[in-house]
Amino acid sequence: MKGDGSEYLCLILLLLHQTSVSRPEKFQVLGPADPVVADVGEDVVLPCYLKPNISAEDMHVEWIRLQSTDRLVHLYQERENRNEKQIPSYRGRTALFPEELKKGNTSLKLTGVRVSDDGQYKCFIQSDLWYDDASLLVEVRAVGTDPVISMEGYREGGIGLLCESKGWHPEPELIWLDSEGHRLPAGPTETLRDSMDLFIVRRSVIIQEGDTNRFTCQVQQQQLNQEKETEFHIHAEMFQRAHPWKVAFAVFFTLGVPAVIGLAVLIHYHVKLHRKKGETLIHVCYWILK
Ligand SMILES: *[C@@H]1O[C@H](CO)[C@@H](O)[C@H](O)[C@H]1NC(C)=O
Ligand SMILES: *[C@@H]1O[C@H](CO)[C@@H](O)[C@H](O)[C@H]1NC(C)=O
Repeated sequence: MKGDGSEYLCLILLLLHQTSVSRPEKFQVLGPADPVVADVGEDVVLPCYLKPNISAEDMHVEWIRLQSTDRLVHLYQERENRNEKQIPSYRGRTALFPEELKKGNTSLKLTGVRVSDDGQYKCFIQSDLWYDDASLLVEVRAVGTDPVISMEGYREGGIGLLCESKGWHPEPELIWLDSEGHRLPAGPTETLRDSMDLFIVRRSVIIQEGDTNRFTCQVQQQQLNQEKETEFHIHAEMFQRAHPWKVAFAVFFTLGVPAVIGLAVLIHYHVKLHRKKGETLIHVCYWILK
């Protein structure tokens, strides 16, 4: 066996084996660079994985929330899920992918997305020798309903319209437009939250008779690149019904003021007259009502 070089081959193989075994188990933890968009009510996967793709089955995998006092979203340790100290709102909604752990994939599945899931997360992974983490941002979104327009009745010589749209996240902007697409001066936007913490927006406007009598309520959410609108048409006769008020106001201000003065003068003299006779104010009132 001497001199055939097999001992060298053996030595080389041994050395190769040594380097592969003692190679430091360093790894990187990677997540997505872009925010993860999650729709309310849907399920979402928060990506996180090891590079190189070594198994994470025997590692400590911790998903946590940043900017929160309660921090734990999901914990995997000693080959088990340990969620006793999990933030209550995540209870029963988180899971790793057991088959994927072998491939170094520590992505988290989150079911039934809620508004409160919005924000920054960290995926922290630790082996006996090494640890690393990756952060990612979750943006929760909900596209709301088509706006609903209702009539509020006659207001300040015009007609009051109210527009409402529900179920948004983040908060949208609500605007009123005339038939040419110009913004109408409207009241302040009222913002409410529903039981799922989604935004409800409402805004009213007082409209005057125009050429087309078409008015549009538009709800926009620029971050979501979403826009919803509803058009409303008012018949011209509706505006005519607004006119009796205008007429009444006009009568009051032209005829009304002199009439009130005249009445005041009359009362004044009548009171003077009856005081002499010792009559009381009650009689005066009675006289006016007659
Ligand atoms: C790890 O990645 C390599 C390529 O980078 C691929 O060939 C291999 O199948 C992966 N292993 C697992 C367990 O996914
Ligand atoms: C990790 O597993 C999830 C769920 O199966 C999958 O959607 C995702 O693409 C995987 N990521 C990688 C890097 O393999």
